[in-house]
Amino acid sequence: MKDKLIIFDTTLRDGEQSPGASMTREEKVRIAKALERLKVDVIEAGFPAASPGDFEAVQAVARIIKDSTVCGLARALDQDIDRAGAALKDANRTRIHTFIATSPIHMQMKLHMQPDEVIAHAVRAVKRATQYTDDVEFSPEDAGRSDEDFLCRILEAVINAGATTVNIPDTVGYSIPQQFGATIANLIKRVPNSDKAVFSVHCHNDLGLAVANSLSAVMNGARQIECTINGLGERAGNASLEEVVMGVRTRKDVFSCQTGVDTREILNCSKLVSSITGFPVQPNKAIVGANAFAHEAGIHQDGILKSRETYEIMRAEDVGWSANRMVIGKHSGRNAFKSRINGLGFEFSSEKDLNEAFSRFKQLADKKHEIFDEDLQALISEAGFEAEDEYVKLIYLKVNSETGEIPNAAVTLRVDNKEVMGSSDGGGAVDASLKAIEKLVMTKATLELYSVNNITNGTDSQGEVTVRLEKDGRIVNGLGADTDIVIASAKAYINAVNKLHSCVQRRHPQQGNV
Ligand code: KIV
Ligand code: ZN
Repeated sequence: MKDKLIIFDTTLRDGEQSPGASMTREEKVRIAKALERLKVDVIEAGFPAASPGDFEAVQAVARIIKDSTVCGLARALDQDIDRAGAALKDANRTRIHTFIATSPIHMQMKLHMQPDEVIAHAVRAVKRATQYTDDVEFSPEDAGRSDEDFLCRILEAVINAGATTVNIPDTVGYSIPQQFGATIANLIKRVPNSDKAVFSVHCHNDLGLAVANSLSAVMNGARQIECTINGLGERAGNASLEEVVMGVRTRKDVFSCQTGVDTREILNCSKLVSSITGFPVQPNKAIVGANAFAHEAGIHQDGILKSRETYEIMRAEDVGWSANRMVIGKHSGRNAFKSRINGLGFEFSSEKDLNEAFSRFKQLADKKHEIFDEDLQALISEAGFEAEDEYVKLIYLKVNSETGEIPNAAVTLRVDNKEVMGSSDGGGAVDASLKAIEKLVMTKATLELYSVNNITNGTDSQGEVTVRLEKDGRIVNGLGADTDIVIASAKAYINAVNKLHSCVQRRHPQQGNV
C-alpha cells in the first residue's frame, strides 16, 4: 500500500493573488466545482478576512462543495481566525490555515517581533482555530529563508497546540531541490512530535523550481503538496498541480505515494482557469499546453506510429486531451447542447439561462461549422461575465478598414442604461474600436496587455482576446470571444471596464502587520 499524497489546491487563494487574476464569487464557485471533479483533497477557497467579497466567496464555496475539504486562510490574528471560522461554518469538511512569518528579515522588518513573540502568536492562532475545526494547518511564512532550529521550535509548539498539518512555504522561491528536500527530512527527524502532523510544502516558482522542490520534498517525507492549476500564483506562480500530479503518477517507480486526483479532468480545469482569469497557457507548457502531446519532427512521428511509447511517457487521454472531442454543430438540439455543457462540468441554474446559452450557441453555429469543447467553454465564460455587472454593454460596432485609408470605428454602447454613440480613428481596426469605446466610457485606465489566441484551429476559429487594464493600482483582465477578433476585442475591453467598475480594492494577505 502506497501512502496518500494530499493535493491541496490554492488556485482560488494564492492563484488569485496573481496581478489581474482576481475572480468573482461565481467564477470561484465554478472553479471549485471543477476542482472537486478533479478530486483534489483540499480547496483553499480564499482569505475571508481580506474583504467582504473574499468572505462571501469562501462562504459560497463552503456551501456548495461536498467532497473536498474547504480551507480558508487567516493571519495569526484572532479576528482573521474568527472570520475564517464564520465563512467556513456551512462546509462539510473545513480547514483553517493560519500563518506567520519566521524568517529573520520578515520578523524584523515586517512584523517587528522577537522570535518568542512569533511563537506565542502562532500557538494562540492555532488554538483559536481548533475552536472552529479539528483540521488546522500552520505555515511559517518564508520558511525557505528561516533558521532551521527556529522552525523546529515553532513547529513543535504549533503541533502541541493542535495543528494537524504543518506547511513549509518557500515563499520567495529561493530553495534548490536537493537542499529543500534535506530541510524537510531534517524537520521531520528533529521535530519531536512530527508524527502527529502531516508535513506539507508550498513552493513558489521564482527560479522555475517550484515543482522540482515540491517533488524533492515528497521524496523526503512531505505528504501534502500545495499547488495551483496552470501554476498560477504570486509573481512567477506556484507549483503547477498538473505537473506534480503527473510527475508522481508517471514515476511510480520513484515515489512511494500516490494522489487521488482524477487526471482525466486536468485539461478541463486548466482551460476553465485560463478562460476565467485571462491567463493563456503557453503552447509548450507541460501536460496542458497545446503542444504537450504534439509531435512535429518526422523521426518522432515515425516512432510514435510504430509504438507510442517511443516518445510518449504519458497518454494524452489520461489528462483529458481528446477524451471529450464530441463535436456539436448547427443541427444539434437543446438536449445535446445541454448534455455536452454538463459534461464540461457546468450546470445551468435555470431554464432561462439554458435558453439564453442555447441561443448564443445557435448564433455561433451559424458562423462556425463545428463547435468544439473549447468553444463551449468560452461561451459559458462569456455568459458568466455578462451576467455579472453589465454597467457597459456593446450594442453595435461598425469598422471601416481598407488599404490606404485610416481605419475608423463607430460604436454604440449602453452605459448605465443609457445609449451612447461615438467613433474614432485608429492604427488598425482593433485600435480604432477600443479608442471609440474608451472615448465613451472614459476609464483613463492604462492598457497593460492585449493578446489574442485562437480557441480552436482554422480561420473560422473563435479568437479569445485578453485585455488587461490598470487604474489606481487595480488590475483587471477582460476576456471576449468571437469569430471576429475585432468584436472579441471590443467585448474584452468592455468586460475589463465592467470589472474595473465593480471591483473592490483587495488587501494582500501578506501585507498586514502580522
Ligand atoms: O507563499 C506563502 O508563504 C503563502 C503562505 C500564506 C502559505 O502563500
Ligand atoms: Zn504562496
